[in-house]
Amino acid sequence: MTVALVGAGPGDPGLITVRGLALLRACDAVVYDRLVAPELVDEVPAGAIRLSRELLDQDEINDLLVDLGTQGLAVVRLKGGDPFVFGRGGEEALALAAAGVPFEVVPGISSLAAVPASAGIPVTHRGLSQTVTLSTAHGEDGGEPDYDALARTGGTLVLFMGLGRLDELARGLIDAGLDADTPAAVVSRGTRTDQQVATAPLDAIAEAAVGLRSPALLVVGEVVQLADVLASSRPLLTATR
Ligand SMILES: C[S@@+](CC[C@H](N)C(=O)[O-])C[C@H]1O[C@@H](n2cnc3c(N)ncnc32)[C@H](O)[C@@H]1O
Repeated sequence: MTVALVGAGPGDPGLITVRGLALLRACDAVVYDRLVAPELVDEVPAGAIRLSRELLDQDEINDLLVDLGTQGLAVVRLKGGDPFVFGRGGEEALALAAAGVPFEVVPGISSLAAVPASAGIPVTHRGLSQTVTLSTAHGEDGGEPDYDALARTGGTLVLFMGLGRLDELARGLIDAGLDADTPAAVVSRGTRTDQQVATAPLDAIAEAAVGLRSPALLVVGEVVQLADVLASSRPLLTATR
C-alpha cells in the first residue's frame, strides 16, 4: 500500500482509529488538513515529510498524492473526520485509481454524529427522531441548499459549513415549513477542549451562536432537547424565549 486516506476524527486526537494511528506512526510522508489535531501530525516519525495542504487546491493535492505514491513512499493523507463525508476523499481516491497508485481508505469518526454527541445530542433517539439528514449549508452551485427537501425529512438535520450563514439557514428552513420553535444547536469546535455549544429555538439560533468559532455544525430537530440533560460535562449557551 502506498497512499492511505486516513480519517483523523472530529478534533480530539484520541478519536483517530487504531489503524489510522499505526499508519501515521510508520509513514514516510503525511499530507494533512487544517482541521486535524496537531498532536496527530506530531505522531509521524522524525524524518518523515510533513506537508500542510493549506495553500493547495484540490487538483494540486491530487497531483501531490499521485507523485508521492508513485515514488513508493508510505503516504498518509490525513483528513478531518471521515475522508468520505464532505471530505473530497472520493476525488483523491479517483485520482489515485486513475494513476494506478495503490491506496487504502481508513475511515474516521465523522463530526456528523460525534460532534452532536459531544454536546449531549444523539442524532437519532427512539420517539424523537428516526432519521438523520446531513447536508452542506450551501447548494451544489454554492447557492442555497434545497430547503424544501430538508424541511420535509421530518427527522434530525445536521448542516455542515454553515456558521457564517446561520440566519439565512434558519430563515430558509422556517419559510420551507419548519416550526420556528424547533430546537436547534450550534456546536463549535466539537470534541476539542475549547468546544462551545449554543442552543435555542430555530428562529433564535443565529443570535445565540454569535461569537462561536469554526468549525461548527448546526443541528436542528427534537433531539436537541436532550442536550439539557445529557451535556452535563460541558457548558451550554442556551437562549430561550
Ligand atoms: C470540509 S467538512 C469535513 C467534514 C469531515 N470530513 C467529517 O467527517 O467530519 C468541514 C466541516 O465539518 C464540520 N466539522 C468538522 N469538525 C468539526 C468539529 N470538531 N466541530 C464542529 N464542526 C465540525 C464543520 O461544519 C466544518 O465546516
